[in-house]
This record gives sequence, structure tokens and C-alpha cells, in this order.
Amino acid sequence: MKVLVIGKGGREHAIVHAVSRSKRVSKIYAAPGNPGMAALAECVKIADSDVSGLLKFAKDEAIDLTIVGPEATLALGIVDVFQEAGLKIFGPSKDAAQIESSKDFAKQIMMKYDIPTAAYQTFDNYEEACDYVNKQGVPIVIKEDGLKAGKGVVVAYTPEEALAALQAAFAVKDNKVVIEECLVGFEFSLICFVSDETVVPMQIAQDHKCAYDGDKGPNTGGMGVYSPVRKITDEIIAEAMTKVMEPMAAAMVKEGHPFTGFLYGGLMLTEQGVKTIEFNARLGDPEAEVVLPRLQSDFIDVIESVMNHKKCELTWDKQVTLGVVMASEGYPASSTKGALIQGLDTCSGLVFHMGTAEKDGEIVTDGGRVLLVSAKADTLEEAYRLAYQDVANIQCDALFYRHDIGKKDMQEDK
Ligand code: AMP
Ligand code: GLY
Repeated sequence: MKVLVIGKGGREHAIVHAVSRSKRVSKIYAAPGNPGMAALAECVKIADSDVSGLLKFAKDEAIDLTIVGPEATLALGIVDVFQEAGLKIFGPSKDAAQIESSKDFAKQIMMKYDIPTAAYQTFDNYEEACDYVNKQGVPIVIKEDGLKAGKGVVVAYTPEEALAALQAAFAVKDNKVVIEECLVGFEFSLICFVSDETVVPMQIAQDHKCAYDGDKGPNTGGMGVYSPVRKITDEIIAEAMTKVMEPMAAAMVKEGHPFTGFLYGGLMLTEQGVKTIEFNARLGDPEAEVVLPRLQSDFIDVIESVMNHKKCELTWDKQVTLGVVMASEGYPASSTKGALIQGLDTCSGLVFHMGTAEKDGEIVTDGGRVLLVSAKADTLEEAYRLAYQDVANIQCDALFYRHDIGKKDMQEDK
């Protein structure tokens, strides 16, 4: 098979890596890809937003299967365009991708089908939103409605923070804001292969959303991750599947928006059980970089089986994989480009390129999150030690990283 992977980040690098391990695949293209993927795939210079360019390429090269990484490409309706042209593509239609591209859309379906989630209201008016916040009090969560790369959410602990978030959100023309009850508990990510009502779960991952150690600083796309997560037992996973993931897939069919692709549940284990923080219409980033390498089943077989509505049992590497994100100084507010990165060849674990470029034969930084450095071992402690050993060997003066990925979980045992 010839497979095309769309995207240029760490998640897409992990997808390419998973595709490269499939016995079914003879050729992989990545559009536009990145220097990390270039070792496994032929990178073609087509932007991930250029839907007509991607369609032409897929037709000309007779691509057998296209896998879409980024939410923005899905929200452009690439799946509809490819399907109309008779091409096989794994991802949700534009309509179904609203599960992520509109928080209000997702919340309405969760409410209608009793899928556990935080209480909320949606506002398109600043004054009414302020009144609501004043009435509800803090802590409270303010979410802009559209796609924000994980950065459109403020968990406000003071009224001032809440009002500042509302001001910022309503400074954008025609913005809608979802204001939510603040859930308290243990967060985890459960991503499933989905086609209509067929839902096959991957292993659990734990992301670290805040920019700095100790869960301080602004929310980011994710600064580090590990999988599996021992606190999330099989019983909790079963609850998450039967109360959240399966009912949501079924609701999408009933509502006339059948979902195909990776359905990501951002979930919270609370005292009242599992609740939904959000759905995404794609694999998580950095979750994909630690979950997919643990998949021992053939990735392409799984996708095909799910697309044919056949449930399959997946086999997983039992070891723990932990990944540390190295990001440009200033991320998430700002980022730099062009700083030289050295020492990548000294790493013993898998390194995924999240935002790099090649310049004069060298690898340089190219945006916010730059690298995910991972290691696997029998214990979380050992995976932590190995991953940070590799991080220490990477030389670049423009990067920072968190030092405490997985630490909370390790400390709970003591
Ligand atoms: P989201 O983009 O919706 O995943 O939100 C980003 C992060 O904000 C989540 O991973 C949570 O850490 C936090 N968050 C979002 N919604 C809530 C909520 N209702 N209660 C508590 N924390 C939340
Ligand atoms: N890591 C969180 C996300 O991909 O949305």
C-alpha cells in the first residue's frame, strides 16, 4: 500500500513511525512532513492546509490510504473532498470534526445524551458572560468556542483572571465563549479508533498541559506525557468507554454526524466518576508519540478493520513510555526559530520532531514545541531517568522543558 500522512508535527511523526512498522505498506509520503519524518517517509512540499493540492497529489500517486493529523486540516473538510473523489481517508468529515472545532456543539450533544461533563453555559455577549461569572464565582473555566491548539482555555482562580479571560475572548469579533464548572480530579487521555459505532480504545496517556513545573503557568498543547497510567485501572477504562466514548460515537451517528477517525476523550476522574473535559477529532499531541509506539498490532490493519466496522483486540507493549517536550523559550505566548539543535544522534530512545526545520544540513528549531524525547522501561521511574538523560544530551540554547513529567504519579506511591 501507498500511504499519505498529512501534517508536520510530532503527532504526524508518530503516525509515520507507526505506519512504517506495518507489513502492509511499501511507500509512505508525508505532506509537508518534517526533518524527523524524512528518515521514514518521502516528504512532499504541500501545505497541510492546501486541500486541493493534497487531493491532486493523492490522485496522481494513486494513494491507497490517507491519514490526517491536524485538526485544522479536518476542519477544512479534507475528508469530504477526498471521499467525493473516491479516495480512502481516515478522519472525520467537516461536520463530524465540529466535535472539536466547536466546544458548544460538543457540549450540546453531551447534554442531550447524558454524557457526563462539566455544567456550562455559552455566551456571545461580554456583559452577560461577566454577570454569569460573578454569580457562579471562582474557580471557573473560560473556553473560547473555536480551534485554539489547546490554548483557548483559562482555568480562573480569581474573579480578575476570569474577567481578563472574557475581555480577551470578546476582543475577537463574533467570538462565542463556553463558561464551565471547574472539575477537580485526575486528568487522562483516552483515544479511540472510531468508525460510526465501532469504537476501539488505545492505551491511556497522561498529558501535562501547563507550561512549567508543578503545573504552573499557562495551558499549552502539552509539555510531556506517559503511558500507561497505573491509576486508571481497567474498571475506570471500562466506565470511560461505556459512559463517554461509545455513547458519544453513537450520538454522533444519531445526530447525523457519523464520526470516523481518532476520537480523543480528554477525561477527568472525579469523585463522581469519569467526566468529559473535551473531545478532539484527532490523535493527541504529545499523546500519540508515547501511545502509538506501544501498539504492537499492525496500525494499518487496525484502521482498515475499524473502517470495516470490525472490532479488533489490540496488543500493546507493556513497558512504560515517557516523553518530555522541549519547547522554544517563550512558548506558548511566543516562540523563536532557527536555533541550532545538536546531540540528537546521542539519544537512545525515540525522538519525535514537533517543530524543526533543516538549514544547511543542520536541524534547527522552527516554532513552539520543538522535540519530544522519549524512553521506555519497565517502570515509570526508569523511563523518566532514561528520557531525561537523553534530554540532557541535546544541546540547544533556545529550548526549555519541564523537569517533572510523571513525578506526581511516582510520588503517589510513596
Ligand atoms: P481543553 O482544551 O478543553 O482540553 O482544556 C485545556 C485544559 O484546561 C484541560 O486539559 C484541563 O486541564 C483544563 N480544563 C478544561 N476544562 C476544565 C474544567 N471544566 N475543569 C477543570 N479543568 C479544565
Ligand atoms: N495534548 C492535548 C491535545 O492534543 O489536545
